[in-house]
Amino acid sequence: MTLSSLIEPFVGRTGGLISALHEVQRVHGFLPEDTEAEAARAFNLSRAEVKGVISFYHDFKRAPQGKTVMRLCAAEACQAAGGRDFIKAVEKKFGLKMGETSASKDITLEPVYCLGLCSTAPAAMVDGRLVGMADAGKIEKAFERAKK
Ligand code: FES
Repeated sequence: MTLSSLIEPFVGRTGGLISALHEVQRVHGFLPEDTEAEAARAFNLSRAEVKGVISFYHDFKRAPQGKTVMRLCAAEACQAAGGRDFIKAVEKKFGLKMGETSASKDITLEPVYCLGLCSTAPAAMVDGRLVGMADAGKIEKAFERAKK
């Protein structure tokens, strides 16, 4: 489907721009490069306005994600519970830095800023499943489960 065919049905609707961006991401798995220009044209907005919306919402992705997305909490409560060391250990275990996707497209590591699991920090989410009191070993097990 073309970008315009995904975006046009939302023009004129309340919250249409965000709904259109979600639809593009649902179909493509991310927002292809031309999304910004196509959405700006369709909604009669500047590209800067569309870019502002896309960059404000962390769930909008500018590049393809890995099959398994690992979100590691980088917010304060998790940092206070050893979150920085936890993140470094996960990065080392999978050979990736935060924000990167493996060459095999199996894994994406990305930061998230609070998962609502502060009482069991450090916290993470692997393929939509929450992991509390997380360490690199638990993340590896969660990854193995996600692959099944
Ligand atoms: Fe990490 Fe809330 S700060 S889950």
